[in-house]
Amino acid sequence: MNTATSFPTILDAPEARFPLRLGIENRRIRELFHNATRQQWNPATDIDWSDLHSERYDEAHLEAARMYWSRRAWGEYGAISESPALQIRFCSDRCVPDMALFFTIRSQEEARHAEVCYRMAEALGGYFEEPAATAYQGSVATHGIRRMALDPEISLEGTIAALVCAAEEIAFDVFKHLIEITPNPVARQVLRMILRDEVRHCAFGWAYLEQRMPQLDEAQREGVRAAVVTMIEKVELNGYHSSWLAPDNAASRHEVEVDRLTWEAGLGATTEDLEKPVFVRSIADIRRRMHDAWGLDIPMFTHRKIAAPF
Ligand SMILES: [Fe+2]
Ligand SMILES: [Fe+2]
Repeated sequence: MNTATSFPTILDAPEARFPLRLGIENRRIRELFHNATRQQWNPATDIDWSDLHSERYDEAHLEAARMYWSRRAWGEYGAISESPALQIRFCSDRCVPDMALFFTIRSQEEARHAEVCYRMAEALGGYFEEPAATAYQGSVATHGIRRMALDPEISLEGTIAALVCAAEEIAFDVFKHLIEITPNPVARQVLRMILRDEVRHCAFGWAYLEQRMPQLDEAQREGVRAAVVTMIEKVELNGYHSSWLAPDNAASRHEVEVDRLTWEAGLGATTEDLEKPVFVRSIADIRRRMHDAWGLDIPMFTHRKIAAPF
């Protein structure tokens, strides 16, 4: 059976577009849209690719860095389908129009991130089209947002809180950390350009929920909380962004070694020891912010690689 068609999606409901609203209904998100249109960049010409000097690295480190940047490209590629799926949802739910406008650019930005990571892998000697081991695909391939976005049973508030205010927020904190520790100027510049876009992606999520949370009833608020917890437990703590968090097997050990070699070369990755405090702090910041802004209590988490509950 084709699972893609086995559940009703928002596409099964008749489309009701009119009356069309295009006025400003969330000023903060409208500003993010205008900022985004002014901040466009070109991976081909806005990165000083000649500073990469791939000839200075040995074969093993280059191979690892190619794998690392290829994996980054796969992750960004996931957003190329997730982002327009959310866009369809915004229209079908008749969300404030600012969201749909912003997401046209957000989709472009995720496409640009995929392209710049692909170009980086190519510049290092060649992009890899797929993971070395299929066992690892479960961790890197998807966080299920595309399906959730089209499922009318799953609340949009929960999806955005989980995807943006949790997952993208963690990614943002790790990017900041990577920029601090990456010596190669091209790798650092690529990371910095992606981060420049991600700051808006994160701000979008908080601006949306700031408007929506006061309108939700207790059950809906609990749905948002549960979606965030699921994202952290089932996706982040399963190694979606960080290979050392993935279940221990040959495939994830290979990815950890890829990261270590890439970090050792200074070409853009980090290690378990360096990233762990960043990750733990990021979760604590998210918990505090969700409590202060929305009054939601996110529980403590545990993971075999992290000594104390966090
Ligand atoms: Fe991205
Ligand atoms: Fe993003």
